[in-house]
Amino acid sequence: MTMMMAAFLVLAILLLLLFLLCFPRQFKPHLHIPSLHGKHVLITGGSSGIGLALAHHCLLQGSYVTLIARNADRLSQAAQSLVHGNLSTSASGVNGHSAQYSKDRILLKAADVSDAAAMSNAIAESFSWRPIDVLVCNAGTSVNGLFDDMKISDLETVTRINLLGCVYTIYAALPLMKARSKRHPSSIVIVSSLSGLLFVYGANMYSATKHALKGLAEVLRFELLSDNIKVSLVCPGFTETPLLDLADKHVIEGNKIFFYDRDYAEAAKVVAAKTMEGVKQGKFLITTSAAGLMVRILARGFTPAESLSDALLEIFLLVPLRVATHVWFPFAKRLIKKQQKQGLNFKE
Ligand SMILES: NC(=O)c1ccc[n+]([C@@H]2O[C@H](COP(=O)([O-])OP(=O)(O)OC[C@H]3O[C@@H](n4cnc5c(N)ncnc54)[C@H](OP(=O)(O)O)[C@@H]3O)[C@@H](O)[C@H]2O)c1
Repeated sequence: MTMMMAAFLVLAILLLLLFLLCFPRQFKPHLHIPSLHGKHVLITGGSSGIGLALAHHCLLQGSYVTLIARNADRLSQAAQSLVHGNLSTSASGVNGHSAQYSKDRILLKAADVSDAAAMSNAIAESFSWRPIDVLVCNAGTSVNGLFDDMKISDLETVTRINLLGCVYTIYAALPLMKARSKRHPSSIVIVSSLSGLLFVYGANMYSATKHALKGLAEVLRFELLSDNIKVSLVCPGFTETPLLDLADKHVIEGNKIFFYDRDYAEAAKVVAAKTMEGVKQGKFLITTSAAGLMVRILARGFTPAESLSDALLEIFLLVPLRVATHVWFPFAKRLIKKQQKQGLNFKE
């Protein structure tokens, strides 16, 4: 067994070296967008959490931002907090910051991503303010529970916002972005989740829509190859934002499968910084934590690693991680069955 694994590793390394010799450009560090300074970044779900942290990060780099969300008051409050430099963790999921930005660099649009016509208008208006360089589809929501306990309307809401909201946003922006992207490298950023790469028990439609976003991102990535528009799929783990209040409400009592522990949630500003770093590099699959790295290796699928260090890491970790799934899976099944026997369901 050990001999076989060693032989496999040696073979993998030899294949990688051969690949490097044949396609050296594949692993050359290359910045798709060298700087965010002066770029226009449109962020859906920009009034809170990860979206607001992305706005803060981009403004700090000298970008212009359009923030889209449904609630106009919360959008104004978010813009005020950016302008006056008083973002607070409790309201936004972003640690406090003291930088202040001119309000001329921020455009607010109240619109619902699940309304195709509203998104078409909002994006056209944003584009006429400044051409969009980076389009971030970040708005999202979750209704947690066991599948057959959920209302049809909840299943539909999550699908409309998480999946169709992203589809409508890209559909409205793409023709406008394509018209200039050959001369101006552009990016589409789709915010999925680690639950878009592995199942999360109790987050059925959330997990399903986030998986669907991976499919959408893969297709678009190839469709837009000759348009100079890179597609990035961002998969953060649990992140300290108001969205976790929903998880708190619905977390299963005693549940260990969910891996949910708010104390270990990632900080929104770290997720934002890692996201934009990956976008600048034109990376396709962006994870933001150590757990994310492991899941990314297991669930990457057809997409190859995007840097030499990633490729080497994957080659060394793939087999041990695959073995680990054989230990973890029966454990997970036992735990879920036990919970189901005890009738431990979701809190109301
Ligand atoms: N927090 C996490 O643990 C975590 C982990 C992985 C991935 N994510 C993903 O990250 C994204 C942002 O989540 P977050 O944690 O930052 O959540 P959040 O703090 O609740 O923010 C959600 C944002 O989306 C907006 N929004 C929701 N529904 C919308 C709609 N129909 N149309 C337009 N805007 C809408 C909200 O504003 P309005 O309500 O005013 O519309 C708000 O600005 C989501 O896609 C989420 O799935 C989050």
